[in-house]
Amino acid sequence: MQSKEWRDERLDWSTLPEHPMDLFAIWHEDACKTEPWEAGAMLLATATPDGSPSARIVLMRGFHAGGIRFFTNYESRKGQHLTVNPRFAATFWWPTQVRQIRAEGRAERLSRAESEAYFAGRPRGSQLGAWSSPQSQTIGGLGVLQEQYNQVEQKYRDQAVPCPPFWGGYLLKPSLMEFWQGGANRLHDRIVYKSTGEGWALCRQAP
Ligand SMILES: Cc1cc2nc3c(=O)[nH]c(=O)nc-3n(C[C@H](O)[C@H](O)[C@H](O)COP(=O)(O)O)c2cc1C
Repeated sequence: MQSKEWRDERLDWSTLPEHPMDLFAIWHEDACKTEPWEAGAMLLATATPDGSPSARIVLMRGFHAGGIRFFTNYESRKGQHLTVNPRFAATFWWPTQVRQIRAEGRAERLSRAESEAYFAGRPRGSQLGAWSSPQSQTIGGLGVLQEQYNQVEQKYRDQAVPCPPFWGGYLLKPSLMEFWQGGANRLHDRIVYKSTGEGWALCRQAP
């Protein structure tokens, strides 16, 4: 396979924001303009109780200075992991920008009110789907899901679908964030932000 020559872009140390989520916002906005599909897709890693890593893609659904939100079934495998050990690692890869962002820290459940507000804005089919899928559990076949879907559809006919108690969001609160910009000759640029408790310390790392 031919190796790819990447555009040579460097991060300007003098203009780097003090807060990593400000740089995240700029890069995410760039990615939204160029990525053909979902700029919000991230690889989320959790750990099993015995410490084995476990990773899957989830969709970011909003972010702010405090962290990154995503939604899921709290009883899923990842939900069970985070209950025992809230530590996470997450990675975004935006090929059109030749950029990667890594975040590590602790996940916290969103308030019930925040999860319910988000759920209320989802398409009805997704709301019914959330009730129908015992995420991460073994099922006998797809027919089981359809049957459960039909039942909840019937149950909530002519009424709003409430947010299931087992479904909601997490805030991924980073204590470390790394911004990786692809460069020529494999001399990529990496800027790492580490939380000091009061603010953020920045350093450049070798690629
Ligand atoms: C593009 C994409 C987006 C996804 N978004 C989510 C999501 O936002 N929330 C979620 O629970 N699962 C999402 N999934 C499914 C997860 O990857 C995973 O299969 C599911 O959450 C069960 O994972 P677990 O058994 O490790 O808990 C997404 C999958 C893909 C491929």
